[in-house]
Amino acid sequence: MFDPNRVLIFDTTLRDGEQSPGATLNLAEKLEVARQLARLGVDIIEAGFAIASPGDFEAVTRIAQEVGQLENAPVIASLARCAKKDIDHAWGAVQWARRPRIHTFLATSDIHLQYKLKISRSDCIKQVGEFVAYAKSLCDDVEFSPEDAGRSDPEFLWEVLTVAVQAGATTLNIPDTVGYCMPQEYGRLIEGIVQNVPGIKEGKVIVSVHCHNDLGLATANTLAGIMAGARQAEVTINGIGERAGNTALEEVVMALKTRPQFFGNLYTNIDTTQLVRTSKMVSSLTSIPVQPNKAIVGANAFAHEAGIHQDGMLKNPLTYEIMRPEAVGWNSTNLVLGKHSGRHAFADRLRQMGYELSREELDKAFERFKLLCDKKKVVSDADIEALLTDQFESLGNDIFKLDELHVTTGTRNTPVASVRLIDENGDAHEDAALGNGPVNAVCNCINRITGADAKLVEFHVHAVTEGIDAIANVTIRVEMQDAEGRKHIFSGRSADTDTLVASGKAYLAAVNRGLARIRARKPTPIERM
Ligand code: KIV
Ligand code: ZN
Repeated sequence: MFDPNRVLIFDTTLRDGEQSPGATLNLAEKLEVARQLARLGVDIIEAGFAIASPGDFEAVTRIAQEVGQLENAPVIASLARCAKKDIDHAWGAVQWARRPRIHTFLATSDIHLQYKLKISRSDCIKQVGEFVAYAKSLCDDVEFSPEDAGRSDPEFLWEVLTVAVQAGATTLNIPDTVGYCMPQEYGRLIEGIVQNVPGIKEGKVIVSVHCHNDLGLATANTLAGIMAGARQAEVTINGIGERAGNTALEEVVMALKTRPQFFGNLYTNIDTTQLVRTSKMVSSLTSIPVQPNKAIVGANAFAHEAGIHQDGMLKNPLTYEIMRPEAVGWNSTNLVLGKHSGRHAFADRLRQMGYELSREELDKAFERFKLLCDKKKVVSDADIEALLTDQFESLGNDIFKLDELHVTTGTRNTPVASVRLIDENGDAHEDAALGNGPVNAVCNCINRITGADAKLVEFHVHAVTEGIDAIANVTIRVEMQDAEGRKHIFSGRSADTDTLVASGKAYLAAVNRGLARIRARKPTPIERM
């Protein structure tokens, strides 16, 4: 029997969130995010889609083995289609967790059945019964999702969900896969399921909500679903995810916490003071910036600009503030470190920022921190975050490493870059290229050496702090084609006090990702579905 007032938080940043174009994380980054999610207090971590690639399988396995073994560990889940091979992979990866879960799904809308799966409604029911039962034979905790539930015939949905419950599912997740529903409509859908599917009213089966944000209604729909009886919310940090994204974890959690009377004293297990920290980590590791006006975690979420507001705030913060910034983890202290700071102080700061590094990683980070201190008098949290994301980035599939970079540019000459890269076998490759600007020259040169046909589609440079000695944080997205001519987006980032060096390293990181993906022929999220 579940506590009827508790809303479980199922975080899918590492699965649905990672399906954001270009957001691919490497193993070290996924582990770091998973540890932070555990610290945040999420109930379930969907660690990935184990069958998608050997890399995804390894990441889910390692998260199950490490984070899934912590004291009070969250449940570790893997997604699986309704297919034996998928379910075997999911179980193979999550079985190491103290509390493993298999999350299996099959579409139920007529559009998906007819055009995508090309199966009838009765085939669909048969497959759900068969594969939920198979998942249950391996794992006690089975979640079933009828994909595109938001556009499915509700009565057919009840029938499918009843079969899933009879086959052993204990969580029924109701995805508004394409972000189509209106809040009242989605609330009614959940209410109908609660009333018509056995096991829910008895407290034996939990209904879960999973909303996409195509019409900007993901949070509203999620809350409407909770009001209608759902007790699990599937969410991502910063709302990242396919297309317009998923429901943002921080928004749902803070809505429930800020308006307890409205929601009838529902609560979550989230330590809200970890929200900003988690948001920053996910943003910097995925290279997806948080918009300044984003609720709860945006840089301006608690900034009061208008004179009238500032005056009110000075008289009493309640005039314009519905939550305290400290309650969501906006820093009261942002201690700066400098060249006199020792390893211990540095390690301590990292821990407070949510990073848990191995001894080797810490040694490397500390060495880079010391080098940075030679160039920069004071080192802030933002500098450290940039330094760490750069370090994690280089733990990825580095097919080529940057060894040397030289750029000549000016008002009267054509920019020219010469680059030296080291490949996986330790062999050096050098070349030079012209460009219509210095960054373009560096990118052209990297393309010549690696043979990648990469096209720069996005370039962001951001000074991490103020001042002439600021670190430049560069995020780049490139478009590359696979052998079948399909286009994919890959991102890379780097931080350095030299903007051109940061640009070269970021571009190379994106190209490395692309080459690795194309080499592994890993399906993109869209092909997976
Ligand atoms: O949006 C969706 O339908 C999903 C399911 C696979 C759960 O992410
Ligand atoms: Zn989804």
